Amino acid sequence: MEFVLKHNTAEKARSACQIITVTQPRKLSASGQRVDKANKGMLSAILKRGDMDGNVGQTLLLPSTGINGVQRLLLVGCGKESEMNERNFDRVVNAIASTLESSGARDAEFYAAEIPLKGRDLAWKVRQSALLLNNSEYRFDGLKSGKPAPRKGLRKVAINVLKKDAERVRQAIAEATAISAGMNLTRDLGNLPANICTPTYLAKQAQVLAKSDKRLRVSILNEVEMKRLKMGSLLSVSAGSRQPAKLITIEYRGAAAAEQPVVLVGKGVTFDTGGISLKPGQAMDEMKYDMCGAASVFGTLQAVTQMQLPINVVGIIPATENMPDGIATKPGDIVTSMSGQTIEILNTDAEGRLILCDALTYAAKFKPSCVIDIATLTGAVIVALGKVPSGVMGNNPALIKDLIKSGQQIEDKIWELPLWDEYQEQLNSNFADMANIGGRDAGSITAACFLSRFAKDYKWAHLDIAGTAWKSGDAKGATGRPVPLLTQFIINQIK
Ligand code: BES
Ligand code: MN
Ligand code: ZN
Repeated sequence: MEFVLKHNTAEKARSACQIITVTQPRKLSASGQRVDKANKGMLSAILKRGDMDGNVGQTLLLPSTGINGVQRLLLVGCGKESEMNERNFDRVVNAIASTLESSGARDAEFYAAEIPLKGRDLAWKVRQSALLLNNSEYRFDGLKSGKPAPRKGLRKVAINVLKKDAERVRQAIAEATAISAGMNLTRDLGNLPANICTPTYLAKQAQVLAKSDKRLRVSILNEVEMKRLKMGSLLSVSAGSRQPAKLITIEYRGAAAAEQPVVLVGKGVTFDTGGISLKPGQAMDEMKYDMCGAASVFGTLQAVTQMQLPINVVGIIPATENMPDGIATKPGDIVTSMSGQTIEILNTDAEGRLILCDALTYAAKFKPSCVIDIATLTGAVIVALGKVPSGVMGNNPALIKDLIKSGQQIEDKIWELPLWDEYQEQLNSNFADMANIGGRDAGSITAACFLSRFAKDYKWAHLDIAGTAWKSGDAKGATGRPVPLLTQFIINQIK
């Protein structure tokens, strides 16, 4: 979607569709009142007749308005001003997107600032609107045969603001554009089936991304090189797969070489069958999404590159399949990780932590300012938190606080679970330094406990995105989360 700025008053609009907000009870926005006045009370008459109450998300599309140069007028309800919140803001913008999707309007004029929402400034409203409108435009239909139906819906949105606000708004649009493009990349990689999106494919995409900008550099380690680095834990997961594992590193250099980078480590299991601890068949196709952590590292790095942020960021992606086979790792097998710690693999389906632990050890060589790993790690996080926030845990309260704040800033929420020492003993093993599972209780926390043993040398946080990275059912598809959160966090590290 293209976004442009306009500075005219509402009654002078020229557009395929003018969007006017209405709050309860039946109250027109300031622009709406100007249009109403210029049209001899046409809009207030409509409100009075009861065709538009102003309920949240209610829409009324008028085919003509009497204003020269405006072909349609869309009234959209915001509910009571006192009850307006971020969620209702999203509902209002999504209602606009879905109503105009089936209309013939290709462009619209929008007064984002007039959606009443306390505590959020104009730039926030514009950025959030642009993110939601872009999001509504996403399709993944490249693998259907035949020509895709021509897209209806909005192409271009004019945001109408005062001239004095233009610079801030332009910045907000630039951020939204970069973040949306990053989310689209993340969603595309997530939605691709595992017979296409293999570890080798991810490695190729990293090289493609790196070609786009001279600030990016990529290195790919193959299994022989990983073996030399003694990544026995990571390699135990790829043992049963015919697709070779790759360790992908993408470095973005936006600041001086001496500046410590933010390191993002993304779980890249391109398909998780569970291995010898085979998963049940129900919805197993969704385990193609088990590389969404990796995909979010791609998307975030692309967004950071597009914004040319003055900061250093390193993405590390351990990429592998988790398959059963004659030489696959078996329950009870003991492996030695790159850190030297030994692991008794009691369940081959707890594979995410086995690849992440070696990637976390590897991450130390970049002398990170902090390390954030992103992983579809446990079904248990969905039991604990549902599909609303991602789970967060870590070894540094200030880092966790910054991440939570970043999520609130951009409506990509996370919630902390307690990473207390008491949980560590659930990982005790009779035969190795630790087991790779901690029993039924607090599964997301014991998974993070496992990771914490490999992240002692730096500030570290772990995001469990198993509930938020994709949607199931009719709306099945990758969401692009937590690219907004990660990008906002990186922006905040600069300012
Ligand atoms: N990739 C899964 C986690 C997952 C499951 C994400 C369902 C989304 C939906 C992970 O590798 C896994 O299998 N975890 C196990 C851990 C258990 C064996 C300790 C799980 O959550 O059941
Ligand atoms: Mn698994
Ligand atoms: Zn997995």
